[in-house]
Amino acid sequence: MKKNTFSLIDNRTGKNYEYPILDATRGPSVLDMRTFFKDSDMFTYDPGFTSTASCTSEITFIDGAKGELRYRGIPIEELALNHSYLETCYLLMTGELPDKDTLRDFDLEIRHRAFLHEGLRHLFAVFPDNAHPMATLSAAVTALSTFFDDHETCQDEAGYQEMARRIISKIPTIAAFAYRHSLGIPFIQPDIDLGFTENFLTMMRAYPGGKMHLCANGHETIKEVEIRALDTIFTLHADHEQNASTTVVRGVASTGAHPYVAISSGISALWGRAHGGANESVIAQLEMIGSVENVETFIQRAKDPNDDFRLMGFGHRVYKNFDPRAKILKNLQDELREELHLDNELMSIARKIEEIALSDDYFISRKLYPNIDFYTGIILTALQIPKTMFTPIFVIGRTVGWITQWIEFKKESSSKIARPRQLYKGN
Ligand code: CMC
Repeated sequence: MKKNTFSLIDNRTGKNYEYPILDATRGPSVLDMRTFFKDSDMFTYDPGFTSTASCTSEITFIDGAKGELRYRGIPIEELALNHSYLETCYLLMTGELPDKDTLRDFDLEIRHRAFLHEGLRHLFAVFPDNAHPMATLSAAVTALSTFFDDHETCQDEAGYQEMARRIISKIPTIAAFAYRHSLGIPFIQPDIDLGFTENFLTMMRAYPGGKMHLCANGHETIKEVEIRALDTIFTLHADHEQNASTTVVRGVASTGAHPYVAISSGISALWGRAHGGANESVIAQLEMIGSVENVETFIQRAKDPNDDFRLMGFGHRVYKNFDPRAKILKNLQDELREELHLDNELMSIARKIEEIALSDDYFISRKLYPNIDFYTGIILTALQIPKTMFTPIFVIGRTVGWITQWIEFKKESSSKIARPRQLYKGN
């Protein structure tokens, strides 16, 4: 028997199968089962991929038991506290944090690429008023692929980087246009004098042709503290290894489709409330609960096995101790409490839920802790962002992760089309 292998015995026949163990640089080792079907004429069964590594990756590392998240080896705390979202994008895409000059050039390029083709602007007009911005966003990103139909010919590093930089720059413009269309108000073009995050907030809020803002909280310009809070939220969402939407992006990539179509599919996958849509659902749920006195009733509902009500913003497939992104946002909430007027009824309900759930055996025994989405909604509400835009904001942050994972997939020589099998139980 070879060392660093794993043996499986078929107890029906006594036949022994041996598979190589692939060691990770960090985290659990992986059993290489690629020849299992050929060897045994059986499939492995793992719905929801709870025990399956679907690829090799060098981008993001999570230790769910320790509550650890790293992009390219750098802890998320270090990035969120000491680096901007754009620095984080550069890190994810290239593996290195940029130096001062590189960051200046990268930032300038991102600003200049933020404009949309005039033809694409007209697409928004076909959607009804009140169209959810996630639907418009997904459609517009698919449409973007028709304006940049060069992916078959740009299969080198420069071509991949071009695809990535373009989509990272344009996604805030598309999201802001989707929002303004949902209100029936004119679009605001990107302003190349503004950085990534301030530009997005301006495209959301500004009156056409002026510096007054549509829904600012009693002030006319965007505050520095608001830019910092949103920039941190983008950084915390930038990548999260093989989550549901990234798995969708890689799956579409495996068919050879255009990267923006893959990202559009990722946007659709993210929309669900078990994934990125949870941030919108958290605030909707807090509003439904309505007051601190009602919290206990809803906690009981969440614990009832016969009720499908779940506490939104609680639980995670990978984090079983705490979500480090949630911890950073909780600290940010405390820090910004006064400046962003966070002391309101929704905040009190959220605190009550947190307090009860963290001491209740149902949640403790199932290792259900508040996740990132539990805290983003409160901060985004304070930034005057309506709840339908919460998941689009997740999209803006995550686009760099999706496109970086797409590039990694394209460069991996052993990449194959995603084609799982099934346990057939039909007639
Ligand atoms: N409220 C009440 N009970 C819950 C919750 C919740 N939010 N989440 C899980 N449970 C219970 C579940 O009923 C099950 O109980 P039992 O063992 O008695 O059947 C147990 O905990 C395990 O749940 P699961 O559904 O098997 O766990 P999962 O790993 O498949 O699902 C999850 C993870 C995030 C989809 C789930 O916890 C959930 O639906 N949470 C609410 C939605 C949410 O906040 N999603 C955002 C995730 S973080 C952002 C992102 O990265 O996408």
